[in-house]
Amino acid sequence: SRTMLASRPILGACQRRAFSATVRQASKVTVLGGAGGIGQPLSLLMKLNPRVTELALYDIKGGPGVAADIGHINTKSVVTGYQPDADGLKQALTGAEIVLIPAGVPRKPGMTRDDLFNTNASIVRDLAKAVADAAPDANVLVIANPVNSTVPICAEIFKAKGTYNPKRLFGVTTLDVVRASRFISQHKSTDPADENITVVGGHSGATIVPLLSQSGYSLEGKDLDDFVFRVQFGGDEVVKAKDGAGSATLSMAMAGARFAESLLKAAQGQKGVVEPTFVDSPLYKDQGIDFFASKVELGPNGVEKIHDVGKITPKEQELLDVALKDLKKNIVKGVEFVKSNP
Ligand code: NAI
Repeated sequence: SRTMLASRPILGACQRRAFSATVRQASKVTVLGGAGGIGQPLSLLMKLNPRVTELALYDIKGGPGVAADIGHINTKSVVTGYQPDADGLKQALTGAEIVLIPAGVPRKPGMTRDDLFNTNASIVRDLAKAVADAAPDANVLVIANPVNSTVPICAEIFKAKGTYNPKRLFGVTTLDVVRASRFISQHKSTDPADENITVVGGHSGATIVPLLSQSGYSLEGKDLDDFVFRVQFGGDEVVKAKDGAGSATLSMAMAGARFAESLLKAAQGQKGVVEPTFVDSPLYKDQGIDFFASKVELGPNGVEKIHDVGKITPKEQELLDVALKDLKKNIVKGVEFVKSNP
């Protein structure tokens, strides 16, 4: 922004101040689970983002160490690490505009995301309580799996605390979109940067529904089945290759950082910022499904507009029907968990 100002001497001092004030809006970003496999590279990418002025890293262990390390990077944001002692969680959250939650255990080979439920549900529940108390107006970006259930868990906690704002709660499904773009580009030998495949539904297995037809592709038969399978189960490729050492962390960090950047851009006034994400959605409420991932336009208040699924092929409709069935169960599971374990 400084170079832009320098090359525009016609701006008056007043205008210049107004311009730089919008560009330099203070934005605190908090990462809960900041010392983890995702948390570390995600925090690194947020440190490189000039829109971030303050970065708070909280973890049950290792937060201060990661913060000290990242804090030496020569960008302007101030980085602070916190741990559970001395009110660390509260301090990490106070004043946050964005709270990213990659805290929780990842998958090992043979596990589904739902297998993580027992451990991660209570971690996310407790963190959501802290968010409601210390950062009730923040945008909350849930990465911890199973996203289809952990997002409803957050919603239930926020409702109980009287802080629920459906426009500010997001399940991060960006990695599915990133994978879909990459995989189609490998198949078609195109530049993945130009590919923008819509992915709707949820974030696990059959609930992940890529809508290739909307990008003008007409894969058929085995080609289509292979593509869909790879998008739905791409995470398993990583889990298997890491052989017990975890799941996607680096690509996930990139995807989480992209989503956070989109929210910051929208908060700072940019129009037309659209990302698929898992939100409290009107689209399938009549079928008892309160959360759904579709393209969402972001704005200063979080969710600006939820796009419907749009025109899809009969085959895509079949996939969607399967997804909706699973999704409903995953959502109910999250809601029930909070009811019996408040
Ligand atoms: P990890 O085990 O490497 O890191 C998790 C971190 O969370 C650890 O540093 C741990 O100390 C911390 N933690 C645990 N309980 C905590 C608590 N109560 N408060 C604060 N921090 C806490 O795991 P990784 O690989 O970073 O994965 C994290 C989560 O992200 C997993 O649930 C995984 O399934 C999920 N994930 C989600 C994706 C998505 O597309 N949404 C993609 C990949 C992973």
